[in-house]
Amino acid sequence: MDITAIPLLQNRKTADILVLPFFKGRHGVEKAGDFIESIAPYRLPIDTKDFKAKEGEVILLYHDGKQESRIALLGLGDPTKVTVETLRRAYAGLTKACHSKKIKTANIVLPKVKSLASEEVTRGIVEGVLLTNYAFTSLKHDLLKKEPSALLQKLCLLGSAKRDLVAAEKAQGICEGVYLARNLVNGNADDVTPQYLTKVAKELAEKHQHIKTKILGKKEIEKEKMGLLLAVNRGSHLDPAFIVIEYRGNPKSKDNTVIVGKGITYDTGGLNLKPTGSMETMKCDMGGAAAVLGTIKAAALLELEVNLIGIIPSTENAMSSTSYKPGDVYVSASGKTVEIGNTDAEGRLVLADAFTYIEKHLKPTRIIDFATLTGAIDVALGSEASGLFCNDDALANGLLHAGLKTHDRLWRMPIFDEYRDQLKSEIADIKNVGGRSAGSITAALFLKEFIPDVPWAHLDIASTAYLSEHKRYNPKFGTGVGVRLMIDFLEHLK
Ligand code: BES
Ligand code: MG
Ligand code: ZN
Repeated sequence: MDITAIPLLQNRKTADILVLPFFKGRHGVEKAGDFIESIAPYRLPIDTKDFKAKEGEVILLYHDGKQESRIALLGLGDPTKVTVETLRRAYAGLTKACHSKKIKTANIVLPKVKSLASEEVTRGIVEGVLLTNYAFTSLKHDLLKKEPSALLQKLCLLGSAKRDLVAAEKAQGICEGVYLARNLVNGNADDVTPQYLTKVAKELAEKHQHIKTKILGKKEIEKEKMGLLLAVNRGSHLDPAFIVIEYRGNPKSKDNTVIVGKGITYDTGGLNLKPTGSMETMKCDMGGAAAVLGTIKAAALLELEVNLIGIIPSTENAMSSTSYKPGDVYVSASGKTVEIGNTDAEGRLVLADAFTYIEKHLKPTRIIDFATLTGAIDVALGSEASGLFCNDDALANGLLHAGLKTHDRLWRMPIFDEYRDQLKSEIADIKNVGGRSAGSITAALFLKEFIPDVPWAHLDIASTAYLSEHKRYNPKFGTGVGVRLMIDFLEHLK
């Protein structure tokens, strides 16, 4: 997307549409920006009661304007209640209206919101537009030949200052990270393999000078004795990969945030095969890995002054005669033995070996993992928040705060030790499943067994990484959850 910003309305170039913002004030519709009504060759219908400026309300008008042939009146609701999220949602609605009319270029008058800094307003608008202006089309060859893209291509922000352009560019960098995460989740599982994730990591390192990668193939994974990652990999014809991708934006600092992403590129459940109806969306099971790669990309584009290490243990969880077996015991990289109660609880296994690698080879200040780990988190929270499990209140609060600001929200769940009994094994040190009750919590308790003594947060994104229906500025399917959250969290690290 080409985004420009100019201070004066009268200097704008031609576009397909002019977008004017309005509030639903106490005495009716109010202008929300610096524009004169005579911008249109006729009276705007703002006192006709047809347009009430409710949050997200859009009306299109047509005329023979010199610069635009369409005007959109966009409602922002009660002026005292406008937040960044209000703007994201309103401009998401506007973007959908543009798509339906195949509008390619838009001149947007920036609203003035009393309670928000102008950079925040710009961020809300640009995120609302860009997050909505996304389509995954690489599997639609035939259709594309007939139907060109309906996406918006150009935005010009009117009434803006230099700092608005800076804010817009920043929002754009963050959305690039979100797009990468969405594309990875939306790609065919047969294409987005552990080897493909490796390729993406290497490409990021080639493009950005502060990014380096180190890839462990099957041999190196064997050398590290990652018995759990290897067990999960046994049913797959593809080798596993263990990706280390580092972004050093602050080489002088010893602060290291390690982000870990579950990279199961397809989860059949293994020998405990998933039933029909539960497997079809399981290409999303590398949503954690996608969040990690998306975050690293956005951090590099924004040149954040932080140090980040991404860790991705990746394999398919496939089913074959060589698959790992329920009832057998496997030895983890930490030496702890694990009885497999269910081969479908594979995410916690590959993460466990990743945590041991981190303890052995890295000096983490904090560890944050992203994983599409349990169906149970959907039962608990649905898709309006990811589950947060954390052993450190300061870290938890930092993440919760970033969640509220970005609306990439989290809800804190307990990790009560009492539930640990559910993971007891009679033949091994621990079992990988703890029964139906508190399913997301016992998963977190399993992970905790392998975590070194540092602040750690586990984000269960099983119900937020992939949507079967579009929602506000999140299109159907991969959402890119976690990227905006992490960037905001990292920006406020002290
Ligand atoms: N990948 C799934 C979790 C999942 C479910 C992700 C739905 C996205 C949407 C995970 O590997 C899994 O299968 N978990 C099991 C654990 C159980 C066997 C203890 C589950 O949630 O049923
Ligand atoms: Mg599974
Ligand atoms: Zn899984």
